[in-house]
Amino acid sequence: MLSAKTAAYSAPMQPLPPRPLMLAPMVELSHRPLRELIESFGGCDRYYTEMTSAAGYLANSPYDRFFVDSEPRPERTAVQFYGAEVEPIAAAAARLLGERTAAGSCLGGLDANFGCSAPLIEKAGGGVSWMKDADRSARLIAALKTAAPGVPVSAKLRLGYEASEAALIAFCRALEAAGADYIVVHPRLKHEKFRRSGHWEFVAAVSTAVGIPVIGNGDIRDAGGYRTVMERYGATGAMLGREAVRRPWIFSLIRGKEANPAFGMSVAIEETGLRMIALIRELLPSPLHISRARRFFFYYCDNLSFGHHLRWSIQNADGLDEVERLFRAYFDEVPSDRVRLER
Ligand SMILES: Cc1cc2nc3c(=O)[nH]c(=O)nc-3n(C[C@H](O)[C@H](O)[C@H](O)COP(=O)(O)O)c2cc1C
Repeated sequence: MLSAKTAAYSAPMQPLPPRPLMLAPMVELSHRPLRELIESFGGCDRYYTEMTSAAGYLANSPYDRFFVDSEPRPERTAVQFYGAEVEPIAAAAARLLGERTAAGSCLGGLDANFGCSAPLIEKAGGGVSWMKDADRSARLIAALKTAAPGVPVSAKLRLGYEASEAALIAFCRALEAAGADYIVVHPRLKHEKFRRSGHWEFVAAVSTAVGIPVIGNGDIRDAGGYRTVMERYGATGAMLGREAVRRPWIFSLIRGKEANPAFGMSVAIEETGLRMIALIRELLPSPLHISRARRFFFYYCDNLSFGHHLRWSIQNADGLDEVERLFRAYFDEVPSDRVRLER
C-alpha cells in the first residue's frame, strides 16, 4: 500500500482552484522554511520557489537543491528557472522532472522568469529581456511543455520596456498559443522596480485578451486588495510576495475574511519569528542562514511597534544565534508585541 505521502505525490496535478492565492517567487525568501511557516497557518494554493539559474543547476551548483526544493507541498509548488537561452532552461526542467520521478515525488509546476529586472540578469539576456522577443519566449514555453509533459507551465512577467497594451497582449497571446497554462502579471515596467503603483489596467486588458488564467501580482496586502484584483481588473487570482513575508498568515486571513468579513485571528508574533529561525536552522545549510534570516526579518519587523531598531540590528548580526538573541531580547522589552489580533 502506498504511504499517505506517496499517494499525495502520485495524485494528478490539480487545476487551479477558483480565485487562487499564490506565494510569489522571491530570491532568498521563497524557500522551504517560508512555505513550512505558511503551511502551519493553513497554506495557499500555489507556491513558487525563488528563481534558480538553469545553467547553474545543470552544472550542479552547490546550493541548488535547496533552491529547487519544493517541500512540503511539491504538488502545488512551481519551480522558477531563469536563463538567457531556451535549451538550458528546457534541459534543467527535464532533469528536474526526472529526478523527482525517480524519487517518487512530483513537480507541481514550472515557471519561466520573464520579469526579473535586476541589471545583472537583464543585461545577460534573462528575466525581463525575454519580453523583447515574443516568438523566442513562446519557444521557451513550448520547450518546457515538451521537456516536462503534464507539468503546468506558467510565465511571470512585468509589462516590459514600454507601456504598450498591444505589445503586451501580443506577447501573452504568443505564450498562450505555445501552451502556457497561466500567466502572472506584475504590472510595472522594467525600469519601475517597485516605484509608483502598478498599471493595473494592463492586467484588465490581458485578462480580456487571453483565454488562460491571468494572475495579478504587486502590492496586494489584504483581503480588499485581493478582491480588487479580480473584481475590478478581471484577474483569475492573486499572487502575494512581500506581504506574505511580513505576515505569513496573510493567506489564511484573506480566506477567513472571504468566508466572514468580521473574521479575525490571534497571531503569536514572537513564536512565529522564533519558528522561522528554527526552520532556517533545520532546513537550510549553514552558509545560507544569516542571509535568509536578514531578508526575512527585514520585512517581518514591520509587525513590531518599535521594529526599526531591531531590523537594523539584525541586518548587522553575524549569525543566526545572534539574530535569535536580538529577537528574544526585543520581546523582553516590549512584551505587549508578543501576540496580536489580526483583522
Ligand atoms: C527580495 C525579492 C526577490 C524577488 N525575487 C524574484 C524572483 O526570484 N523571481 C521573480 O519572478 N520575481 C522576484 N521578485 C518579484 C516578486 O515575485 C513580485 O513580483 C514583487 O515583489 C511584487 O509583488 P509584491 O508587491 O506582492 O511583493 C522578487 C521580489 C523581492 C522583493
